[in-house]
Amino acid sequence: MNHVRIVEMGPRDGLQNEAREVPTEVKVELIERLANAGLPAVEATAFVSPKWVPQMADHTEVLERIRRKPGVSYPVLTPNLKGFESARAAGATEVAIFGAASEAFSKKNINCSIAESLDRFRPIVSESKKYDIKVRGYVSCVLGCPYEGEVKAERVAEVAGALYDMGCYEISLGDTIGVGTPAKTKMMIDACSERVPVANLAGHYHDTYGQALANTYASLELGVRTFDASVAGLGGCPYAKGASGNVATEDVVYMLHGLGMQTGVDLDALVGIGAWISKILGRDYGSKAGKAIAAKKAK
Ligand code: HMG
Ligand code: MG
Repeated sequence: MNHVRIVEMGPRDGLQNEAREVPTEVKVELIERLANAGLPAVEATAFVSPKWVPQMADHTEVLERIRRKPGVSYPVLTPNLKGFESARAAGATEVAIFGAASEAFSKKNINCSIAESLDRFRPIVSESKKYDIKVRGYVSCVLGCPYEGEVKAERVAEVAGALYDMGCYEISLGDTIGVGTPAKTKMMIDACSERVPVANLAGHYHDTYGQALANTYASLELGVRTFDASVAGLGGCPYAKGASGNVATEDVVYMLHGLGMQTGVDLDALVGIGAWISKILGRDYGSKAGKAIAAKKAK
């Protein structure tokens, strides 16, 4: 299988931790440009509490204002039924529920235990069926937790399996704090594929320790064909202090195309977007491939 699906995280995971206010029109333009660059899925926003994550407070406006490109999916995070109802009212056709393999992280991130979170997610999945809304599931802390340290692969597989059995079409495995290394990633994927078919697993690797691209490659070797990535490597989790953003989408696309794999993404267009949004946020351009391509073009 030569095709890899990239789920773009920039507008949600990328911006959720941004200290300065990002205008809604910038978010809308970012999402539209990413979809136009060929990304098949762009996570648009999060229907979470504005007290917990102020940057996502304009979720309804963002989702209502984007001009949707046919064939592109725009998932949004929904931690509970309240979030799901608001997302549905704003026109969501795909939502994502997000659990964790670590009790301490679950408590800090969504204010409940893992078991309680699964109980909260069940009604979201059953409601979603009524409205033909797709549900994606996340597991956080799959390669380590900022509060508990080591996280066992079996524990990750249990939570991934529970979300899959509940009805999530895909389980995205989050190395929230970017501590994983390729061998550990492979062990974790192996454990998860005992519970969830590998075709229904996705890698979601943060790049804090510079391992995210290597972990992506390790996962590819085991047959994973869906990866979450963030344009310009934007981001970090508000409940995982010091963590960097997801692996940069530009770097993933460059590597995949170099391997002869297809993504449907126009890398030059993506680099234009990465340079643009970095400038708006007043940041250095956080993609190595993006920076190199932009510099070559400027010559
Ligand atoms: P809580 O305080 O326990 O909720 O928060 P509650 O049910 O007790 O309600 C408290 C207040 O929040 C009430 O308002 C509710 O109406 C309101 P008040 O009466 O005080 O005015 N509320 C909501 N408002 C808007 N939208 C909602 C909602 N629900 C309740 N959906 C809650 C529980 C889950 C809401 C909270 O903890 C929360 O919003 N957490 C979200 C945290 C978050 O967004 N984290 C980042 C995303 S996850 C991530 O980045 C990891 C990932 O990328 C994968 C990886 O890297 O590992 C996905
Ligand atoms: Mg994340």
